[in-house]
Amino acid sequence: MSQPLPRDPQPIRFHFRGRTIEARDVPPTRTVLDWLREDARCTGTKEGCNEGDCGACTVAVGTLGSDGQGPLDMQTVNACTRFLPTLHGKALFTVEDLKGIDPAGGLHPVQQAMVDCHGSQCGFCTPGFVMSLWGLYERHQALGTRPGRIQIAHALAGNLCRCTGYRPILDAGERMFELPVRRLDTAPVAAALQALEDAPARCHGSRAQPFFAPTRLDELAALRAQRPDACLLAGSTDIGLWVNKQLRELGEIIYLGDVQELQRIEEDAGTLRIGAAVSLEAGWRALVARCPSLEELWLRFASPPVRQAGTLVGNLANGSPIGDAAPALMALDAELVLRHGAQQRQLPLHDFYLGYMKNRLASGEFIEALLVPLTPLPQWQVRAYKVSKRFDSDISAVCAGLSVRLDGGGEVADVRIAFGGMAGVVQRARQAEDALCGKHWTQDAIVLAQQALAADFQPLSDLRASSGYRMQVAQNLLQRFWLETRAGQPLPGAACRVWQGVLDEGGAA
Ligand code: FAD
Ligand code: FES
Ligand code: FES
Repeated sequence: MSQPLPRDPQPIRFHFRGRTIEARDVPPTRTVLDWLREDARCTGTKEGCNEGDCGACTVAVGTLGSDGQGPLDMQTVNACTRFLPTLHGKALFTVEDLKGIDPAGGLHPVQQAMVDCHGSQCGFCTPGFVMSLWGLYERHQALGTRPGRIQIAHALAGNLCRCTGYRPILDAGERMFELPVRRLDTAPVAAALQALEDAPARCHGSRAQPFFAPTRLDELAALRAQRPDACLLAGSTDIGLWVNKQLRELGEIIYLGDVQELQRIEEDAGTLRIGAAVSLEAGWRALVARCPSLEELWLRFASPPVRQAGTLVGNLANGSPIGDAAPALMALDAELVLRHGAQQRQLPLHDFYLGYMKNRLASGEFIEALLVPLTPLPQWQVRAYKVSKRFDSDISAVCAGLSVRLDGGGEVADVRIAFGGMAGVVQRARQAEDALCGKHWTQDAIVLAQQALAADFQPLSDLRASSGYRMQVAQNLLQRFWLETRAGQPLPGAACRVWQGVLDEGGAA
């Protein structure tokens, strides 16, 4: 039975600089960056864009597993889109913490390597790069592995530098492993987090603007049913910009990130179940481990600090018409588990959207999990293509998710084609699908499907792409899909394979 929620706001308690911080009377949308720079006077962490794009504000957040036990899981995130109350029960590390790791007080190997390789000029971006490199350093030291240059570049995809041209920073990413090892001693941090009493059902913020942080699914469900108008917060990589850029007032907030049951990835009876609080990074890693052809889309989705903070379900719930997860998940025939109080229902993802930023969630209802059927996968060819101006960390002009199942005679037994960027919502191309079903998987059939696309979509023109460009790209992506999936074609290009190491880095979830 869920606990009655305390009405009196509790202090936000987290571990920082070797001690427990108790932050009281903090506005619920106070960002970690503003608290660091203005309240804690820790100005090593910089503010550049204030919207998750530049990485100048990169910090590391350490958490214990959902069972409250060690080891400490460290994730680098952007402090500018992270609200302070979400740090409750966690550990925060900033660039100033690295010097303390060497008992002799020397520079950390990451810092020393940046000096040795001239990885800094004006230095404004440097703290962010150092924190992203430190996250990579700790992860590989724990695995006993060393990242290749591509993996270092991938880890830094969320950090921008306008001075160095990046080569010296990549050099530093290699050099840091050549210096004497300096590891963070996580035992005292884990002990401090375990000692942090964790009231089961928490409330921060103020009486006027409460920030509810349930830790159990039944508490969340009860809260959501009682407060259908509260802002439901997951990783705040969309919501953070509502506050920072649109200056919106969020009112009451219900944070789902600490709900233990929502942090799980489970495979049961041939279905992959990804909880609503599972990060984009962990969710994509689990999907790609089972469907490797989605790897490039994973690595081009935002950047590591955004993927380590945002959630996969949040992308679907946000429902942007250029959201990158929905096309691929529609091609995988994914479903959503929706929850209202104690009631659950299931809905195919392709039926979830009603129109621009509108969906089928009822008042007081939320998405509990994403379900991806795995049993049929071996009979299907699946691809996802993202077309954007910049290769890394850019918003798509067009994003496609495609899957086809051929019967023994090479005819199309079933096909799913979904596009983002082509309409007010991500949606299936039903006419193009109908044009293909029952036909042999040939160039002629693709031409018919390309023509049918014009009946499926009348794309918009905007600053990212013209209508004509979008339609041409969509038709070309159909062609690419056919070329890649004709009989005897290998898995997608070598580019995907070069990141194989990234997949190995954390192993399949
Ligand atoms: P939040 O910001 O916490 O919430 C987003 C919305 O979903 C809110 O309306 C919230 O109420 C709702 N919501 C969240 N969880 C639930 C739930 N369980 N049930 C019901 N409603 C819920 N997106 C892309 O598609 N591709 C990109 O390449 C990309 N790049 C980005 C780069 C940057 C720098 C940034 C800042 C964002 C980028 N995004 C991108 C957008 C964003 O990261 C994703 O949409 C992310 O998945 C949102 O998840 P979140 O947990 O942060 O959601
Ligand atoms: Fe640019 Fe946070 S200030 S990502
Ligand atoms: Fe100046 Fe990177 S050193 S922005």
